Amino acid sequence: MTSTNDIRRSFLDYFGSNGHDVVPSAPLVPYNDPTLMFTNAGMVPFKPYFLGESVPPYPRATSVQKCVRTLDIEEVGKTTRHASFFQMCGNFSFGDYFKSGAIPFAWELLTGSQADGNFGFDSERLWVTVLGDDQEAIDIWLKTGVPRERIQSRGFADNYWSMGVPGPGGPCSEIYFDRGPEYGREGGPEADEDRYLEVWNLVFMQDELSTVRSKVDFDIAGSLPKKNIDTGMGLERMAALLQGVDNIYEIDTTKIILDRASALTGVEYGRDEKSDVRLRVIADHARTCAFLIADGVLPSNEGRGYVLRRIMRRVVRNMRILGCLDPAMGELIDASIASMSPQY
Ligand code: SER
Repeated sequence: MTSTNDIRRSFLDYFGSNGHDVVPSAPLVPYNDPTLMFTNAGMVPFKPYFLGESVPPYPRATSVQKCVRTLDIEEVGKTTRHASFFQMCGNFSFGDYFKSGAIPFAWELLTGSQADGNFGFDSERLWVTVLGDDQEAIDIWLKTGVPRERIQSRGFADNYWSMGVPGPGGPCSEIYFDRGPEYGREGGPEADEDRYLEVWNLVFMQDELSTVRSKVDFDIAGSLPKKNIDTGMGLERMAALLQGVDNIYEIDTTKIILDRASALTGVEYGRDEKSDVRLRVIADHARTCAFLIADGVLPSNEGRGYVLRRIMRRVVRNMRILGCLDPAMGELIDASIASMSPQY
């Protein structure tokens, strides 16, 4: 089995050997950025470089960034792919390469052979999307070898990326893997995002946004000083695909925590969908708690501390509903540490 740690290593090695500086993950509490509660994307630590506020010490970088996102917290455990804590593999260009560099890089790592350290995907099962009629991106994809019928055009809601707050943004091109007919409808990512799982987002970071009212309603104040690249490949999603498991809660690193919750509650995983959802929520959230506390967040009544408190409460509540009335947080945090310490 390809471990999550191996995938992480392959990603950093690939971009490291293609001229990118390997940068360690930044903390979950963004440094000096009052617009963000938590680091929620790989590009967050690099924001000043995109905006031209400071000069990057390297033209290209790669990282695996720990992220916390709580916007989709109600989806956690119910879908195959939502998490409050996840790790984003990324490659970044600060005014160096643009679309014609980023697209072939992603394609080579995805479809190159595993014997050469790549991921070895069958290229026929990969689909891509672009923003509207981004002909430049379409032409590069065609040249890279993706047939026209597997390139779909989508609107701003899907193919324009912003931080959700003022800052850098740009059109994006996303890569999807077709998991097969048992996962849903035919017709590409536009038809079904459970069957076609988004694995990689390539953002062509070129605009500076002054106001962001929603995903489709924002003001572009102007162009960034340079054209940049920001990509994000979800490590857990990639692990689910390469390990051949159904969802991100069953990959090696997360399953360790889920199994501990199952042992503590005496509830077997895979017998009842409702209990399974609870076990997945516990596995995801316990790890989020461990990482937030490790980065200095403590439970409280406001701000970041309040978010942590809510997440902790959801763990405790689900453990109790599953029958574990004893204090279990410590055990679950221990399991999270055991699972994640090889990487951190
Ligand atoms: N910033 C983009 C994202 O979070 C690509 O890394 O999806």
